[in-house]
Amino acid sequence: MASSKIFLIFFLAALIATPVVVAQLGGLLGGLLAPINVDGVLFCSINGKIDVLNGATTPIFPNASVQLRCGAGNVVSSTTTNGSGAFSLVLNPVQNILSSLLSNCNIVVTTPLSTCNASLPSAGVLQSPLQIVGRTAGGLVNLATGVFQLIPQLN
Ligand SMILES: *[C@@H]1O[C@H](CO)[C@@H](O)[C@H](O)[C@H]1NC(C)=O
Ligand SMILES: *[C@@H]1O[C@H](CO)[C@@H](O)[C@H](O)[C@H]1NC(C)=O
Ligand SMILES: *[C@@H]1O[C@H](CO)[C@@H](O)[C@H](O)[C@H]1NC(C)=O
Repeated sequence: MASSKIFLIFFLAALIATPVVVAQLGGLLGGLLAPINVDGVLFCSINGKIDVLNGATTPIFPNASVQLRCGAGNVVSSTTTNGSGAFSLVLNPVQNILSSLLSNCNIVVTTPLSTCNASLPSAGVLQSPLQIVGRTAGGLVNLATGVFQLIPQLN
């Protein structure tokens, strides 16, 4: 506790003393505070991905409820796929630490697959972990889903 106070005092002193440090800190915080974006296109298949069956490509999955769930299944954010099967979630980097998003969170599709194709299961939810796909010049972190798996209904 005492050492962290001393550190803070030195830190503040350094801030006051050198504009260079202030600029560096601004850059660091800017990097840490850049929004995190999760984008994807959901397809109407058991792994949520595009597939080619008998020469026909998998249709997209529109109007599907997409949730970001973390830890024991807390819904952190949610959206719906649009008419092209696309979804996008913009996450607050203060509340959503990148490393825990990657290790502790999943994208879960709660609309049954049978909604988009009656031959597919009506039970269970599609679930995929997140993976990092890149960072834009502006510092925005882009995440995407991996391969979805059909798992038993949550909750
Ligand atoms: C998706 O939802 C919109 C608005 O509720 C509706 O008009 C549209 O028909 C739905 N599309 C499909 C493919 O279910
Ligand atoms: C769905 O969202 C994607 C990505 O934002 C966009 O390119 C596409 O035009 C949208 N489709 C519809 C039907 O709104
Ligand atoms: C619906 O799902 C079945 C079983 O996977 C598949 O054979 C069929 O091609 C799908 N239909 C469409 C229109 O994708």
